[in-house]
Amino acid sequence: MKLSILAVLLGATFAASPVLAADNPGAGILKSQCISCHAIVKPDKASLDRLWERKGPDLYYAGSKFNKPWLVKWLQEPVRIRPAGEFYTKHVKGSDKEDVVDESTLTPHMKLAKADAESVADALMALTGPADMVTKGAFKGEKVSMSMGAMFFNKLRGCAACHMGKPGTGGSSGPELYTAGERLQPDFIYSYTKNPQAIDPHIWMPTLNLAEPDLQRLTGYIIQLGASEGK
Ligand code: HEC
Ligand code: HEC
Repeated sequence: MKLSILAVLLGATFAASPVLAADNPGAGILKSQCISCHAIVKPDKASLDRLWERKGPDLYYAGSKFNKPWLVKWLQEPVRIRPAGEFYTKHVKGSDKEDVVDESTLTPHMKLAKADAESVADALMALTGPADMVTKGAFKGEKVSMSMGAMFFNKLRGCAACHMGKPGTGGSSGPELYTAGERLQPDFIYSYTKNPQAIDPHIWMPTLNLAEPDLQRLTGYIIQLGASEGK
């Protein structure tokens, strides 16, 4: 009886803080090699200074954001996602018209061996973040016409001002989105597009108050972008 209560208590502790569960070697790697640049627990206070000073994107909600196969692949062969790095103003040279990225200030991301990438991906997928961050089932999965999607993405809703929908085409202050279909969960794309600050307070992506059909269309388009680029 006593033992089973202990087991329940332990189980609850582990579920609440998966990073602290020592049974996954990936959690150990995260703590020893990654937390100098990435937050793997939700920071106490979100502030503009923290956003400005952080050395890498937050990973404490990685399990609600990424597709695991992408993580396993990217951790072994990282390819730049944010054309101007993190934080982007540190890596752009002054120009009135457009951002010019100073490549010399960007350093390549560290690489992991296959077995480590797999266990780190498992540890990251266990970090789901606050329950209300991403609306599960928000994306209804409808197929979107690519030409209609492109018109909204590039022209009508202005996403291409900050995001590349194709390598080399689009803005560089936000992450590229041409691999987002492979990288990101559809419900994350939907929730982020709907209210970026609910996920990353103070981030400079505007909350555009998009109507539901726009959110569905843009999410569907971004997913398909990834699928067509990946081939
Ligand atoms: C020296 C700082 C630094 C260290 C150490 C570091 N990272 Fe990163 N990481 C970054 C930066 C900067 C980016 C953004 C790269 C980009 O956008 O191209 C990034 C991006 C990522 C991403 C994609 C995040 C996203 O939101 O797009 C993942 C996943 C990731 N890192 C995992 C790890 C893991 C796991 C480790 C430890 C094994 C690690 N990183 C160690 C700086 C670091
Ligand atoms: C003013 C610039 C700006 C505009 C306009 C903009 N975004 Fe963003 N977007 C950002 C920034 C900045 C981030 C987060 C950067 C980071 O995590 O380092 C972001 C992140 C995202 C992400 C999450 C990507 C990831 O890998 O973390 C999605 C999805 C996204 N934006 C979709 C859109 C869509 C759809 C539109 C058009 C409706 C749009 N954005 C318009 C700047 C912008």
